[in-house]
Parts: sequence; structure tokens; C-alpha cells
Amino acid sequence: MILVTGGAGFIGANFVLDWLAQSDEPVINLDKLTYAGNPETLQSLQGDTRHTLVQGDIGDVALVSQLLARYQPRAVVNFAAESHVDRSIHGPGEFIQTNIVGTFNLLESVRGYWQNLPQENRDGGVAPTKNRFRFLHVSTDEVYGSLKKDDPAFTETSHIEPNSPYSASKAASDHLVRAWHHTYGLPVLTTNCSNNYGPYHFPEKLIPLMIVNALAGKALPVYGDGQQIRDWLYVKDHCSAIRRVLEAGRLGEVYNVGGWNEKANIDIVHTVCALLDELRPRADGKPYKDQITYVTDRPGHDRRYAIDARKLEAELGWKPAETFESGIRKTVQWYLDNPDWVAHVQSGAYREWVQKQYA
Ligand SMILES: NC(=O)c1ccc[n+]([C@@H]2O[C@H](COP(=O)([O-])OP(=O)(O)OC[C@H]3O[C@@H](n4cnc5c(N)ncnc54)[C@H](O)[C@@H]3O)[C@@H](O)[C@H]2O)c1
Repeated sequence: MILVTGGAGFIGANFVLDWLAQSDEPVINLDKLTYAGNPETLQSLQGDTRHTLVQGDIGDVALVSQLLARYQPRAVVNFAAESHVDRSIHGPGEFIQTNIVGTFNLLESVRGYWQNLPQENRDGGVAPTKNRFRFLHVSTDEVYGSLKKDDPAFTETSHIEPNSPYSASKAASDHLVRAWHHTYGLPVLTTNCSNNYGPYHFPEKLIPLMIVNALAGKALPVYGDGQQIRDWLYVKDHCSAIRRVLEAGRLGEVYNVGGWNEKANIDIVHTVCALLDELRPRADGKPYKDQITYVTDRPGHDRRYAIDARKLEAELGWKPAETFESGIRKTVQWYLDNPDWVAHVQSGAYREWVQKQYA
């Protein structure tokens, strides 16, 4: 049994779906179901006894302690967070609350549970023990700040220099996780991953926004000059990296996760447009790139991120399965094949579903 937090969001849900496709080990999925949490993504698991979705906050110590005591997980994987940089600029409070205070409370609940686990497994079975327990914290490359054009990619020893309220709150949570290991001995692992893309991505983020707007005949808004560089990883490759770190990562260590795919935002938009031209040409025969419009840049917009994932590759033998070309094609195709999921997110119908389930 593992406890996943934020498992109704983009990466967490992909992780839960992949986990249960590959193993029968049950998952307790604790998610607050904010606007970013979408249980429709997990619809294929309805009635599956291996998956239990619990609506709740990682900061709710009583609830989390009760879940830990009841289900006795051998690991906690923490995806829960406020994750959208633009939202963090307009309203940083929620980011401080969930990403920092929430992580602190989660660590305290987990510490209380872990301290009372048996040192050794008395019956020789699979029940969790103090030694085998793991807390894996999922974080971002944005904690390292911004790179100049020719700087080498971020390694695990790069300075932590976050620039947005989002990245600052994630950096703070990474520091708390580190401190709970060094101070209390909690068996933690941290992963810092580059930008993810793939199925079930909320259409406020660059790639799904471009696909969805293009198909709707709307403008494709590109910040500033579009030359901001991000390093992209297909979400399922991020999930396989997390599984690998959980399995074999060294305690207290940080592992960078990335696929060596640095791309300027404008190039990403052109790639999406070209794929749509091929897979779903516009009725008027014109290219989708005609819909691109440049808009005022985001304040404090980081110029470049790049991740050096050699530690994870060398120590744990992890490799991404997708190239950027194969992953982006799969992603565009997924959005073309799943118009209902997109429509429900856009109309807000997925929120009604949440309210009905949890009224
Ligand atoms: N998206 C990326 O490119 C990326 C890259 C690297 C790391 N990350 C990290 O991975 C994690 C998941 O990112 P994502 O893109 O899936 O985010 P997301 O916004 O799609 O999902 C976050 C999930 O957390 C839930 N949540 C929010 N506050 C909560 C709380 N207080 N208690 C319980 N659940 C809560 C939401 O309901 C949602 O289901 C985050 O920690 C993020 O910082 C994301």
C-alpha cells in the first residue's frame, strides 16, 4: 500500500494510472480536489478496489494521521501542490498555505506514523517497517532559478534561487523535507523535474492551452518574444523516474529528472501547430501558426531552465522512453482523441461531478 497526495492532478493521476497498470499494490489517493484536481481523469479506476480516492488536505493533520494509521502505507509520494506560476503571481497565499504549511503538516503527520513503525518486520511479511518506509517529495527544476544562454544545466548541487512565488514555495518545501531527514532521520527522497507534458494536462499550461485554443479557432498567446527556454519531459517518463527513485534512491538524496529537451516556447508552439496542420487541418486550409499572438511577458519570467539528470541515469539506470518528437505527437493525438475530457474541464462540468460525489 502506498499513499499518494495530489493524485487527481496532472502528474499525480498519470502516476496512479501507471502504478496500477504495472502492479496490484493498492493506492490511497489524498487530494483536496482544487480546480486542478479532476477525478474524471481517474474514471477508469472506478470500482477498482486497489484505488481509494479521499478528498482532503495534506495540511489536515488529524485526517492524514488517521489515513496513515488505518492503511499503513509503506511509502508516501507527495505530488500535492499549487502548481501554476501565473496564479502564484496573482494570489501567492494559497501557494504558501499548501506548498509550505501543507508540506510541513504532512511531514509532521508522517513523522508521527513512521516513528511508531516496527524496526523490523516481525512476521517476515510485507508490512511497513521503519527502515523500509519512504517519503518521496516531488519537486521542480524551477527552485534553481534561471540560467543564462550558455550556462551548464542545473545539477543537484546548483544554487537554490527561486524567482516566482510558486518556485519559492516549492524550494521552501524541499528545504523542510531535507531538514526532516537530517533532524529526525525521516527516510526521504526528493526529485526535481523539468517541465512535464502529456495526457490530462490542465489547459491553462502552455502545451494543452495551445492545442485547445488552436482547435477552437482562438488566439495562441505567446509571452514576450517567445524565446524562454524550458526543458521538456513526457509525463510518463517522470512517473517512471519517481518509481525508480522510490525503489532504489539513496535516502536523503535529491535526484534531478529531465530528458535533455531544451526548447524555446515559440518552437513548442510551432511544433504543436505543425502537428495539428497534419492531424486535424483547419477547415480553411490555412496553418494554425496564423493564430499566434504575442502578449506582454509575465513579470519576472525566468529565461531558461535546463536539467542535468546524469545522477539519476548513472546511479539508478533510469532513461526516458520518449523523445520530444514521439511524446509531443502522442500528446497532440491524445487531446484530439479526448474532446470530452477537455470540454468538461473547460465548461467546469468536472467540478459538478466532484460536488455530486462528495456532497
Ligand atoms: N507540471 C510540471 O511540469 C511539474 C514539473 C516538476 C514538478 N512538478 C511538481 O509535481 C507536482 C504535481 O504537479 P501537477 O502539474 O500535477 O500539478 P496539478 O496542479 O495538476 O495538481 C496538483 C494536485 O494537488 C491537489 N492539491 C492542491 N492542494 C492540495 C492540498 N492542500 N491537499 C491535497 N491536495 C492538494 C490538487 O487538487 C491537484 O489534484 C507538484 O508538486 C509540482 O510542483 C510539476
